[in-house]
Amino acid sequence: MCGIFAYQWHKPATPILEHGLQRLEYRGYDSAWLAVFTDQWQALLVRAVGKVSELSKKIEWQKSITDLTVYTSGIAHTRRATHGGVTEENTHPHHDTDHHFYVVHNGIIENQRKLKDELESEWYVFYGQTDTEVIPALLAKYWTGDLYQTVQKVLPLLHGAYALLIKSSYCPDEIIGVKRGSPLLFALHPETQEFFFSSDAQALAGYASQIIYLDDGELLHLKNKEYTITSEKWIIQRNPTTLDVWAMEASKWDYEHFMLKEIFEQSAIMRRILMGRVDFAHKTLMAEAFHGMHDEAYERIVLVGCGTSYNAALVWAYWIEHLTGISAKAEIASEYLNKLIPTDVKTLHIFLSQSGETADSIEVLKYIKERWWKTFGIVNVVWSTIAQLTDHGLFMRAGYEIGVASTKAFLGQLTCLFLLTLWLGKRRSMALSTYNALLEELQHIPNKIDQILQTFDLSQEQDTIRTHISSHIQSASTMFYLWRGREYPIACEWSLKMKEISYIHSEAYPAGELKHGPLALIQSTTPSCLITLDDEFFSQNISSLAEVQARKGTIIAIANDQLPQAEYTIVIPRTHSLLAPFLVTIAMQLLSYQTAYSLGREIDKPRNLAKSVTVK
Ligand code: AGP
Repeated sequence: MCGIFAYQWHKPATPILEHGLQRLEYRGYDSAWLAVFTDQWQALLVRAVGKVSELSKKIEWQKSITDLTVYTSGIAHTRRATHGGVTEENTHPHHDTDHHFYVVHNGIIENQRKLKDELESEWYVFYGQTDTEVIPALLAKYWTGDLYQTVQKVLPLLHGAYALLIKSSYCPDEIIGVKRGSPLLFALHPETQEFFFSSDAQALAGYASQIIYLDDGELLHLKNKEYTITSEKWIIQRNPTTLDVWAMEASKWDYEHFMLKEIFEQSAIMRRILMGRVDFAHKTLMAEAFHGMHDEAYERIVLVGCGTSYNAALVWAYWIEHLTGISAKAEIASEYLNKLIPTDVKTLHIFLSQSGETADSIEVLKYIKERWWKTFGIVNVVWSTIAQLTDHGLFMRAGYEIGVASTKAFLGQLTCLFLLTLWLGKRRSMALSTYNALLEELQHIPNKIDQILQTFDLSQEQDTIRTHISSHIQSASTMFYLWRGREYPIACEWSLKMKEISYIHSEAYPAGELKHGPLALIQSTTPSCLITLDDEFFSQNISSLAEVQARKGTIIAIANDQLPQAEYTIVIPRTHSLLAPFLVTIAMQLLSYQTAYSLGREIDKPRNLAKSVTVK
């Protein structure tokens, strides 16, 4: 989603802003822009449709005709179009007719039509189609001579979720940041007296040493070198915390893509998640980690998430019902309020989110909190909205995930959820022998993940995934992921991953259901991936395989041994059947990555997608 970056004083602002935008690129956007200012409010605006690299070309050209070093503050933005097309005119910042107010905005102003109609009836003329443009127009209309007072007058008129940065020619040494529903944080470097705003902490690595995470409804007013934070017009005290630069540093190391690096990090991440939460020697789970889960007699659990997080919720719903006897249901966040979901005080709501900023999930979370029902979060980004709003939670510890297609966060979610299953199971109906067997096997999963990863080598021409399977898939226009029983969520996740990075249409379908319709689509150009593990479904899966092959379809089997009947096999190590999702996931991530790679797709930033979806 859109990204905001701002810098105040006293170094040349352009390279800092440009670098900040590059670090925000992974969030997804379709145009980029920056405005830099001198101490005397001389402004220079550079806009570009497309990538930040397009913006950089324009900056280079500006350098040849202007001395950019005199511009020592600025604001910058990557935009993902919601209202108004992808045009230079619609890039931010938006300004009023007289260019006295500049506004950068993430989120949506929901009553923009009504506000625009009112302003137009007073002869105000808008130059573009964005909802943002209404904000500088209102600031101009209500200007009191004081920026802080004027902003306080305008904010109650705006409905929706947003993060804003506001600058005015009337007071060049001031800048105001407002957070209401969209991420915004403030950072500083006390020694050099430099100040920053950003949508994302990682963009600040190496620039700021201290950070303040703004809460919803808060406004930060920076005037020269002093800043105040207000909430509902009350001044509040908020001490900055140390920005962990090391943790924020996002580097691809030697990998060609962030996604590949993130796939390869997974065994280490799983070990990190387990550390301090499980004592394998004594087969115990550490109680502190599960605070908020053990003391309530929940009758039902509802898991809420979107995309990959929803698929993780589906895996957990299966685990929890089979191992603990508690009724559990996964819900797609954007559909939650459209359905009449039976729920009450005896229902625990668990929110799954990598970013912790997904608008659809936050909307449901707020609805649940208004009713005082209990909430639990499994979130990766520690300072995020969902992490802050949920009553209790478990952090994923997956580290920054940059690739838009979620990989290590999914594995992190599965790991946290599996621990919660064991924790709840031990307190409910799980047999001690099952608990011990699962915990014992869980310990071996990171090594088994490493075994799968070792089979994938980009430099090795003989790698089966690389050379044969993905080149077969890449010529397909559609494909199937066939599953039985508990494999359903993994097939859904596989299908999602393939769609988002390779742009090949795919469908996760119950293998036994093929003959009731979809078989009509099977032909030599329709590959099917079939999860054929050494389990109770094996012989039924072999029948499905024959059914597909009889229609000239190709089978890519995910199996525990080479499967002679299949055209291709991806072999994964054996494990307890309930832990198989951890290993099938790795194989499917590699296959999706390799297919997208062979097709030359933009793997880390697939078209039309954003890393953190902060609008509904
Ligand atoms: C995953 O590959 C997708 N990019 C997307 O489905 C994502 O999982 C979804 O938008 C939810 O995001 P969250 O986990 O940050 O809430």
